[in-house]
Amino acid sequence: MLAGKVALVTGAGGGIGRDFALALARAGAKVVVNDLGTSVKGEGADVGPAQKVVDEIESKGGKAVASTDSVADWTAANRIVQCALDSFGRIDVVINNAGILRDRFFFNMSVEEWRAVIDVHLNGSFYVARAAAPHFKSQESGCYIHMTSTSGLVGNLGQANYSAAKLGIVGLSKSIALDMAKYHVRSNCIAPFAWSRMIGSIPTETEDQKARVEKLKFMDTAKIAPIAVYLASDQAKDVSGQIFCVRANELFLMSQNRPVRSVHRAKGWTPETIASQAIPALRPNFYPLDRSQEVFSWDPL
Ligand code: NAI
Repeated sequence: MLAGKVALVTGAGGGIGRDFALALARAGAKVVVNDLGTSVKGEGADVGPAQKVVDEIESKGGKAVASTDSVADWTAANRIVQCALDSFGRIDVVINNAGILRDRFFFNMSVEEWRAVIDVHLNGSFYVARAAAPHFKSQESGCYIHMTSTSGLVGNLGQANYSAAKLGIVGLSKSIALDMAKYHVRSNCIAPFAWSRMIGSIPTETEDQKARVEKLKFMDTAKIAPIAVYLASDQAKDVSGQIFCVRANELFLMSQNRPVRSVHRAKGWTPETIASQAIPALRPNFYPLDRSQEVFSWDPL
């Protein structure tokens, strides 16, 4: 499905990104395997993981090159895109997948924890996407895939930085889809559920938490790759601005914000009439304070 295409996957040294890189190469793409080789918290760097995935692709007859720059820096992000051009002469697909976690309850979250997560996820996604944009625009084709999360789309405890970044990425993706539609450039999001070292870092103190995490273990990271390969292919040429979610063998199209109910008062509203009329009318449509696990309340299939 991807013969002749060049794909760049950030954070492809392990987890979901590694499976993206392997699947894209299997589908015929030449792949830039970018990974800083850092810890779940984003501490340290290692050139090993990216090169290992490149070796794996090459051992199966595919074409790949390693890039170990950080997405969280504008100059470095430009080098990641340049690596695709220098190695393979073009760029067709960008998958913004690199990520870290610095979980903490909001009232204890430090500025450094906030910034580190926003820098990798939200700023990093912008930097890499923006660096590829002139090439996509001039060739009048290109595909962006950005990783979001139900932590942002629905909610989760102790992840204000991550949820804000992941919902920001949804806005970024939609904006790219709108701004670049006339150049036939597409942009979509994937919210995955998969057992990776990132999910393995969830604290499991209670028996309930332990049982929940046990169930997550069979959600294979490779199950996320087929939708990415499809989106990267020309068969998805009319698919843009969407949010997909994948959990083992389940595939979801996620909703996007639209008005759910309105009230109108010819003379306008006062705080008092909002309290007496508007809120009682709107309240039946309020959303509960759900977390992701309450919306995805059944075991993965
Ligand atoms: P992972 O921790 O296995 O992989 C993330 C990779 O990103 C690592 O190899 C890491 O070295 C790399 N990385 C981190 N900072 C980087 C930087 N500045 N520049 C370049 N590379 C960097 O995590 P996983 O689970 O594979 O996550 C992949 C994506 O999917 C992330 O964006 C994550 O937020 C998202 N996601 C994952 C979920 C899951 O269930 N595993 C759930 C929701 C979202």
